[in-house]
Amino acid sequence: MKIFIEKNYTDLSKRVADIIESEMKEKSNLVLGLATGSTPVGTYEELIKRYKEEGLDFSKITTFNLDEYLGIPHDHVNSYHYFMEENFFKSINIDNDKINIPNGNPENVEEYCKAYDKKIENQGGIDIQILGIGENGHIAFNEPDDKLYLGTHVTDLTESTIKANSRFFDSIDDVPKKAITMGLGSIMKSKKILLLASGKNKANTIKKLLKDGVVSTHNPASLLLLHPDVTIILDEEAAEEYMK
Ligand code: PGA
Repeated sequence: MKIFIEKNYTDLSKRVADIIESEMKEKSNLVLGLATGSTPVGTYEELIKRYKEEGLDFSKITTFNLDEYLGIPHDHVNSYHYFMEENFFKSINIDNDKINIPNGNPENVEEYCKAYDKKIENQGGIDIQILGIGENGHIAFNEPDDKLYLGTHVTDLTESTIKANSRFFDSIDDVPKKAITMGLGSIMKSKKILLLASGKNKANTIKKLLKDGVVSTHNPASLLLLHPDVTIILDEEAAEEYMK
């Protein structure tokens, strides 16, 4: 496991973009696993800048997003389809046919979930997966629980996640209660994992992850510690409690 502690969010975003850029230069048809949430936005901005200023080429990459709210139209401003389009895809030269985001309105959800994992497998797996981390240790929508699912599945959002995500909605009642998410097994199959955390509100989460020395389904991110190629990129605020 590698840990980078960057001065601030800008430097964190540049570090993550550097890692992705160097992987893209080694493999032009990279399979990139993407995340939503506030944390990766700076990385997307940095990658857009490199596309515009240096011609970083996204035309051959394939992307798989981690999750989507269930039952939300894809053009809804709070859907993850909309988020990815606005924050990344519309500003780079990606091939739309190579973008994969879980469908929040599948006809047969169980079959759809299996097909999503199969599609990742058929692409040869995810080369590099970007992850944020919830304050409760969740990864994508894999919430702390007695058991965690391996594959892509439908899940109930916890109260704490609904509360955290309500900042993007008009009211907490508008936050969907269910989501479709890649499982920890799907995520752990990625060849390389980048876990990002920024800001004071993640400081205790990171301390628990890196100092407790335990792996538990009640802290889903802790399972990542078993992955052979995980890089954790923090800013100083997120690293503060861990460094004490
Ligand atoms: P954030 O979300 O990047 O908005 O903090 C991370 C997460 O909940 O996984």
